[in-house]
Amino acid sequence: MDKLVINGGKPLFGSIEINGAKNAAVAILPAAILASKNVCNIDNIPNIEDVHCLERIIESLGCKIEVGKNSVVIDSTTINNVNANTEDVRKMRASYYLIGALLGRFKKARVELPGGCPIGVRPIDQHIKGFEALGAKVDITHGCVVVEADRLIGTNIFFDVVSVGATINVMLAATLAEGVTTLENVAKEPHIVDVANFLNSMGANIKGAGTDVIRVVGVKELQGCSYSVIPDQIEAGTYMIAAASCGGEVRLENIIPKHLESISAKLIESGTEIIEDGDCITVKSNGKLKGVNIKTQPYPGFPTDVQQPMSTLLTVAKGRSIISESIWESRFKHVDELKKMGANIKVEGRTAIIDGVDKLTGAVVKATDLRAGAAMVIAGLIADGVTEVLSIEHIDRGYPNIEDKFKALGADIKRVSCSE
Ligand code: EPU
Repeated sequence: MDKLVINGGKPLFGSIEINGAKNAAVAILPAAILASKNVCNIDNIPNIEDVHCLERIIESLGCKIEVGKNSVVIDSTTINNVNANTEDVRKMRASYYLIGALLGRFKKARVELPGGCPIGVRPIDQHIKGFEALGAKVDITHGCVVVEADRLIGTNIFFDVVSVGATINVMLAATLAEGVTTLENVAKEPHIVDVANFLNSMGANIKGAGTDVIRVVGVKELQGCSYSVIPDQIEAGTYMIAAASCGGEVRLENIIPKHLESISAKLIESGTEIIEDGDCITVKSNGKLKGVNIKTQPYPGFPTDVQQPMSTLLTVAKGRSIISESIWESRFKHVDELKKMGANIKVEGRTAIIDGVDKLTGAVVKATDLRAGAAMVIAGLIADGVTEVLSIEHIDRGYPNIEDKFKALGADIKRVSCSE
């Protein structure tokens, strides 16, 4: 086990490149299973544990995989197993996309119930509702989701809640259904559009991704394609928040500024300067910020996935800030860790009330989940003295080379084995 040791209090200067989007990549890899001809050549894949986990799972189904530095070639013509039940499947959330992909291509699948970050109840009732509406029989038995259909037939599906996972999963299954599927009240996150673009490159007929309604005209078969994953909105947002919190001037390259608007708006409100320039953004800050109120919402609202990093920034922003977490019921586990560093935060249900303090002080803290881990790294970067962040396997699930990127910006951060 490793930990990150951070000697905080230094401003950040320099430029870094943002990697491909985790939450797009973890849907696109299972989507590649839908190709019954040719290989998928996928580029801008982030080098993170969730991606490696999915690559192993897909290989275990009989696909041939060639993994490059930031790319992967998937030959799914050789797939011979619709039963995904390895330890890796249980470890991660996005393994549920195997259900939609396998159901679409083979009309059956058996996939262990997914794991993922402990951020609240994570039901999949809307995924199941969609599969059933397409004509599949769905059972949950011995910890597995078992789906089977004679035929999948396009229909109208109105989701009861806006769900990223359900939108993508049902879209995957519908690509090879007979006739037209209309998905209403869908999620509009950038990675929904990216997955739809990937599927269209494979020969699917999907329109409307990025709006409330997606229309999928079923096609007979899909084939491999070449594709590059979009930049990671959440990774970019995390580094923007780090730069604003620490002070300094940081340029982020390979991003889509449009995807970052809600984050930029809050940083500007807090006193940060944001300069957009093509596919780059520069964040300038003197580290003296003021409190802002945040409500997490589905895209284009403020993303829940940067709520935890943003709450770290607000611990040292002047005045009171109120965060309302409207997506996940339990995404404040990092607050107790921030309190060890001197933060003044009170949590009431899904609301956190933060009264800014002059400074945080270094402590031994842990990453309770992926984005909480990023929040604790930022806390370490702004704190006086030394911070040790434990349980960083959570961070490695979603942030490629986090310590190298912060080192490139001048931070004093190193990864060491916990036994040292
Ligand atoms: N929900 C239901 N029923 C469902 C599905 C979802 O009630 O069948 C509820 C959830 O309980 C939650 C809300 O709908 O309250 C939104 O959940 P959603 O399905 O959108 O989340 P997800 O697909 O499980 C993805 C990301 C999360 C991100 C959320 C929201 C992946 C692998 N995960 O999760 O990312 O927080 O969308 O944007 O794409 C992260 O990257 O740190 C992370 C947790």
